[in-house]
Amino acid sequence: MIRIGVLISGSGTNLQAIIDACNSGYIDGKVVVVISNKEDAYGRVRARKAGIPEYYISHRGKSREEFEDELIEVLEKYEVDLVALAGFMRILSPHFVRRYYGRLMNIHPALLPAFPGINVQEKQWEYGVKIAGCTVHFVDEGTDTGPIIIQAAVPVYSDDTAEDVRLRILEQEHKIYPLAIKLFAEGRLTIEGRRVIIQGEKKKGGFLMNPSE
Ligand code: GRF
Repeated sequence: MIRIGVLISGSGTNLQAIIDACNSGYIDGKVVVVISNKEDAYGRVRARKAGIPEYYISHRGKSREEFEDELIEVLEKYEVDLVALAGFMRILSPHFVRRYYGRLMNIHPALLPAFPGINVQEKQWEYGVKIAGCTVHFVDEGTDTGPIIIQAAVPVYSDDTAEDVRLRILEQEHKIYPLAIKLFAEGRLTIEGRRVIIQGEKKKGGFLMNPSE
């Protein structure tokens, strides 16, 4: 059973998906601590409702390293095996990333390496992509550049609003983040350079084409 620390800044729907997947036994793990850098993040309420210790650590008025040292102190206290960023809206410096490399994951709402950065659901819609998606990756020292663990693709229809696209992506985020953590907990992920090798990978095949005819 792995010990998971989750970092959030917002509503925490991915956090909830991870908690639920641990509680159901899908993930052989437990969320042992949640840290938010935003005081009013609803994810904090989710953590409390689930009986998980949660901390609010503001980044304001601190150097990046000072802020990260406070995160590290809590993560070490709870002896986490994996740090999952779930809507955590701060860039982490090499100081933090080097310490947790290989056990630090992020979810990004686009098919990387397309659309790194923020507000990318809207950017995909504006760009006019016909297929959007999401990515779980290990975090490296770049922004949204780390080794990719899993991706899911969704169609974007002509009459979609940007909000429709956001919600369609989010639905898949709630599947792929628990799956990535499950694979990690089972010891099935190996990083080889940029590539993540997955032991016992299911090869389902198929493809997504949009429009489909
Ligand atoms: C998700 O779309 C995630 O991919 C992005 O921020 C959003 C967080 O949503 N990084 P939530 O807080 O998990 O509901």
